[in-house]
Amino acid sequence: MSPRKIFVTTALPYANGNFHIGHIMEYIQADTWVRAQRMQGSEVNFVGADDAHGAPIMIAAEKAGKTPQQFVADIAAGRKQYLEGFHIAFDNWSNTDSPENHELSKQIYLDLKQAGFIETRTIEQFFDPEKNMFLPDRFIKGECPRCHAKDQYGDNCEVCSSVYAPTDLINPYSALSGARPELKTSEHFFFKLSDPRAMAFLTEWTQDGQHVQPEVAAKIKEWFGVRTNPDGTTSEGLDDWDISRDAPYFGIEIPDAPGKYFYVWLDAPVGYLASLKNLLNQRGEDYDAYMADPSLEQYHFIGKDIITFHTLFWPAMLKFSGRKTPTKVCVHGFMTVNNGEKMSKSRGTGLDPLKYLALGMNPEWLRYYIGAKLNGRNEDIDFNAGDFMLRVNADLIGKYVNIASRAAGFIAKRFEGRLGEVSADGQALLALLRGQKNAIVAAYEARDTARAAREAMQLCDRVNEYVDANKPWELAKKEGMEARLHDVCSTCIEAFRILTIYLKPMLPQLAANVANFLIVPPEQFADVDKPLGAGHQIGQYQHLMQRVDEKQLDALFEPPAAPVAEAVKPGGESNQAPTLGAAASSLPPEGAGSALGRPGGEAIAPTITIDDFAKIDLRIAKIVECKAVEGSTKLLQLTLDAGEGRMRNVFSGIASMYQPEQLVGKLTVLVANLAPRKMKFGISEGMVLAASHADEKAQPGIYVLEPFPGAEPGMRIH
Ligand code: MSP
Ligand code: ZN
Repeated sequence: MSPRKIFVTTALPYANGNFHIGHIMEYIQADTWVRAQRMQGSEVNFVGADDAHGAPIMIAAEKAGKTPQQFVADIAAGRKQYLEGFHIAFDNWSNTDSPENHELSKQIYLDLKQAGFIETRTIEQFFDPEKNMFLPDRFIKGECPRCHAKDQYGDNCEVCSSVYAPTDLINPYSALSGARPELKTSEHFFFKLSDPRAMAFLTEWTQDGQHVQPEVAAKIKEWFGVRTNPDGTTSEGLDDWDISRDAPYFGIEIPDAPGKYFYVWLDAPVGYLASLKNLLNQRGEDYDAYMADPSLEQYHFIGKDIITFHTLFWPAMLKFSGRKTPTKVCVHGFMTVNNGEKMSKSRGTGLDPLKYLALGMNPEWLRYYIGAKLNGRNEDIDFNAGDFMLRVNADLIGKYVNIASRAAGFIAKRFEGRLGEVSADGQALLALLRGQKNAIVAAYEARDTARAAREAMQLCDRVNEYVDANKPWELAKKEGMEARLHDVCSTCIEAFRILTIYLKPMLPQLAANVANFLIVPPEQFADVDKPLGAGHQIGQYQHLMQRVDEKQLDALFEPPAAPVAEAVKPGGESNQAPTLGAAASSLPPEGAGSALGRPGGEAIAPTITIDDFAKIDLRIAKIVECKAVEGSTKLLQLTLDAGEGRMRNVFSGIASMYQPEQLVGKLTVLVANLAPRKMKFGISEGMVLAASHADEKAQPGIYVLEPFPGAEPGMRIH
């Protein structure tokens, strides 16, 4: 039988931020699947890329004072440390601004046009006369037409949840320039998904039980049904899809349409093919021939928020441009942290993958933990610190690694590192282990790594029962039990080898270390059935995995540690001499801050009226940029977006607590109507709120406020 040929991708992350734990989860899932495939002999090409295009990236680049290309390249440069750190082994990492993607996207478009699926239509859109550009809905703000909340986005109101068109906003303004947008007409290109051929194909493709999980198919079916539009009319089936944007836009220019660009979601999935093509070019292989193989399977791993693009638009694009359609779109749910909120797409919260690695935490703990939670269905999973420690310590160390550490010493000391004969009871145990091979391989195939982990741990239990029944440590002390000791320990080593193969897709580095220790070549699933046998020489056992230490978890979720005592109030330079020093303990002295009547070290201020409070205009602000201030050890310079269509410059005395990169992308609270203040380093236009103890010496630390999820820049705090 010839091996399966499979082309595998994960969603292409927007190139406007670093990876967060949600991305890493997706890559671990896909990487584990790919490794399990390869262990069955499948020939896999596993590719990723950065999603480079679109208005938000263009605007972010402009703010950062970079070309979009440079901006994207800088983000791309940071990818490697995450991927290598978690043993995520993409064969290629490209980006959607590559020559391959420009070429392929245009070709697919032209093929769709040829097949009669492209149409142009004139639409009316808001235009920013200052920025000279059409505004995406998200960049138009104004008063909600229903509840009159101010500063709402152009597509929906975050206060009353109503959905509307940007043209419905009262007093609309551009979030980029603050200017009042003008309505302008423009010609747009549409992908005609309303064509009955599209509906017929997609109904079949999504509902035939082959390409998506049942729960995903059910969701899609709802979208096909009758629905109410924002204007009160109803529609059924699919709407045409607007695939063009007007210049200026960072994207791919549409052939024969100067000034018109593909909407980012048109060229993004084409990036899968482009990254593959780029890989095959590097290897001198032929892309067209590779894709033309009818047995080639194409798998996409994605999260639940981008189902429409991958199960409707993308298969339709491929089908009607005459290309191979995906074999499977594998949808996973979202990852939350410590029962926390759903993580925002652009900014990770909770568990910083780089901090995890920097703390010396083992990446395979996370791979195993995530693997043990994912069952192949579109369900959310939670990272829970206590559960994590329990899982890793009880399963990986307590059940699995233990098997080797219990047997290896005797083989080395008593039998010169050579395995012996395995007698009947050992053979029976090993047969039980080998008998689960197909079930475990099937679990990996179905992305039910939770089941694979469970099966493997149950087998570990059987092996440990065998060890407990035979007590090698007692055999070792008894006269004439030499042969039995050799037999029992050899059984354990062989069992450990089999279990390692079962866990290898999740624990690739550990498995490589085990292969070293057992002196065997890298192993496939089929090697389960090929025992090492009597006389096989094994190497020196070295400890394979540490236990999770609770302190590491504390550190992982702790705000930045060991604050330097610092007497600076936000928005201003300190007059006091800073009390620097290692002596600044993070433990407050007895009773500090909790003294009756003096919470936080100071008495509550005199009573004010609600009118007094109303004078202070507190707003949610997004920290768009954050930099160290040359010449100051205390200040950070923040660029804040409080939804005003302009940026604010604010200096804050928080440099002792936060690295600039920790703050970028976060929301905080701004005193928006504080008189601007001229400082040595520039003008501070407001102040961000932060908490600290009144006695900075006794209890150092200053903590910036961050709102609950859902808050948006510009919202007032009432
Ligand atoms: N650029 C688009 C995808 C284009 S694919 C042709 C995009 N990028 S993203 O960076 O926002 O998301 C990339 C992937 O990460 C998506 O599959 C998304 O579902 C996934 N995740 C984002 N947050 C996540 C979690 N909290 N948990 C799990 N996956 C999450 O969308
Ligand atoms: Zn509203």
